[in-house]
Amino acid sequence: MGLPQILVVGSANMDLMIRLPRMPLPGETILGGEFHMVRGGKGANQAVACARLGASTWMLGRVGRDAFGNELVHGLEADGVRCEYLVRDDTAPSGVAMILVDASGENTIAVAPGANMRVTADDVAIAVRSLDFDAVLCQLEVPIEAIAAAFQVGRERGALTILDAGPARALPPELLSLVDVLSPNRAEALAILGLEKQEEPTLEETAQCLLQTGARNVVLKLGAQGALVVSADGLAAVPAFKVDPVDTTGAGDAFTAALAVSLAEGRELITATRLAAAAGALATTVLGAAPSMPTRERLTQFLDSQGA
Ligand code: RIB
Repeated sequence: MGLPQILVVGSANMDLMIRLPRMPLPGETILGGEFHMVRGGKGANQAVACARLGASTWMLGRVGRDAFGNELVHGLEADGVRCEYLVRDDTAPSGVAMILVDASGENTIAVAPGANMRVTADDVAIAVRSLDFDAVLCQLEVPIEAIAAAFQVGRERGALTILDAGPARALPPELLSLVDVLSPNRAEALAILGLEKQEEPTLEETAQCLLQTGARNVVLKLGAQGALVVSADGLAAVPAFKVDPVDTTGAGDAFTAALAVSLAEGRELITATRLAAAAGALATTVLGAAPSMPTRERLTQFLDSQGA
């Protein structure tokens, strides 16, 4: 087959990052961190990863008519992502994320979504009129109506529908029933299941419960613990790859994008999840979200170096 064609419907943000020795406590000010401004947003990160991994990729979303919007669009285009359906919103500013990263690479993120929350089902309807795709990949930083519209068309056309369930929120059953592969992390899984942290079942039970929400397959992202795959064929654990993390921002995005590309290329779910785990691990070794998305060459080298 030719290159897989992937439509990403999602957010684009400018990430304002500060690296600190440790996270500040509530009410505390810490001096001395270094500042970085990099491209981000879960949708844009996944679009960049899909393109770098070799897929023909379209990004559908909204950015403002501002300097951040210009930079986000130019950056995506420089990575080979097609942006004809990335709308310049006339009224809202581009999305911005404030990110703190501590010495262990862990992060906290606060997002001002701006134009991302103005993506509509009509934006999707306009794009899909002249677009063919093998997979549609969404996250939860744009309105649910737009995601549902994209998955509905995806289903009608026989494309794979993949949902990265971040950031955490409850999801309507009508949306979940349109999902071929649902990929949350643990916190996102609890939000989908309507459970509090203290009610968390075992990971295996969590994965099984997620499968009962209507999604056809579930890939539960467990970071340094790897991933759990559950489908009608049963449950399988996929181990993590060991790396020295610098910054975990965007690791989940690299994971889900690699999963989407591998599945769109025809790999079966467990093999695709293994490649996804490698892409996620690699993303933690580079500072920033979009900059850390691995290329196909880097991923292949890494897998060879791991004997995988
Ligand atoms: O997943 C990481 C991303 O979450 C960041 O790039 C930030 O913009 C937020 O959307």
